[in-house]
Amino acid sequence: KSQPIDATAAGSEVGSKVKIGAYFATWWALNVVFNIYNKKVLNAFPYPWLTSTLSLAAGSLIMLVSWATRIAEAPKTDLEFWKTLLPVALAHTIGHVAATVSMSKVAVSFTHIIKSAEPAFSVLVSKIFLGETFPAAVYLSLLPIIGGCALSAVTELNFNMIGFMGAMISNVAFVFRNIFSKKGMKGKSVSGMNYYACLSILSLALLTPFTIAVEGPQMWAVGWQKALSDIGPHFVWWVVAQSVFYHLYNQVSYMSLNEISPLTFSIGNTMKRISVIVSSIIIFRTPVQPVNAMGAAIAILGTFLYSQAKQ
Ligand code: 3PG
Repeated sequence: KSQPIDATAAGSEVGSKVKIGAYFATWWALNVVFNIYNKKVLNAFPYPWLTSTLSLAAGSLIMLVSWATRIAEAPKTDLEFWKTLLPVALAHTIGHVAATVSMSKVAVSFTHIIKSAEPAFSVLVSKIFLGETFPAAVYLSLLPIIGGCALSAVTELNFNMIGFMGAMISNVAFVFRNIFSKKGMKGKSVSGMNYYACLSILSLALLTPFTIAVEGPQMWAVGWQKALSDIGPHFVWWVVAQSVFYHLYNQVSYMSLNEISPLTFSIGNTMKRISVIVSSIIIFRTPVQPVNAMGAAIAILGTFLYSQAKQ
């Protein structure tokens, strides 16, 4: 008698695994495309503040149009919601600009190797600011993460301090973003997709004045003309691609947050970095020394050990 129930339970478990697998595959694929176009754009047009702003603008526009045309249902928000979102948006903005500045200075693979140390920052921030304690195995797993990243950094052929610091700042900022957004999403009726949309809109508002102050229209006009003449008119599509794919991969990752635990999410995020590191090394023919690759492998292995220890 119990068989049909078991079969149904097994069926729905398989169904949810397939769904999560589909989320992950889509998230990683969109992320790889974003990283490739983002770097192609930055190589030809080195204005990371503007390109980060355009990514947020594209996402905001896509979602405002989707709400207006009722392709997606607009969220019901109040002032309290936006107030709680403010620290999340601030951290998201800082983390996003810092990562983009980093990628404008160093190879995409190097930025992501340093960003694979995010779990180590998560532990440190949770301990220092939230007074959380972890089992010894968690602290031990930080050794290969930090050691691997350090090995990769000192053997990086095109090391650049701004590139390195940008990725480090992005790590700290995104840890805070994740802590604040977990609190902000809890008990709220806003879906992952709409939550990320509101986050983009608020981040765009925060970032725009700084982008104009740091870079500004005069620099962009000169850079834009140069990029168009170096690459050709299709350069515009590269900018569109980096902007739209940035929104899409983040939207999918926030949608998957609804379905999975933060731990599964962080494992997924680390595996995402492997696909980005490998594909960008191939596409941009990034020179990698064996010891440099070994550092990356140790760091990534460390993040897996970390996820096991946290379980
Ligand atoms: C950005 O531009 O925000 C970063 O590339 C994002 O990094 P992530 O891989 O942590 O989303």
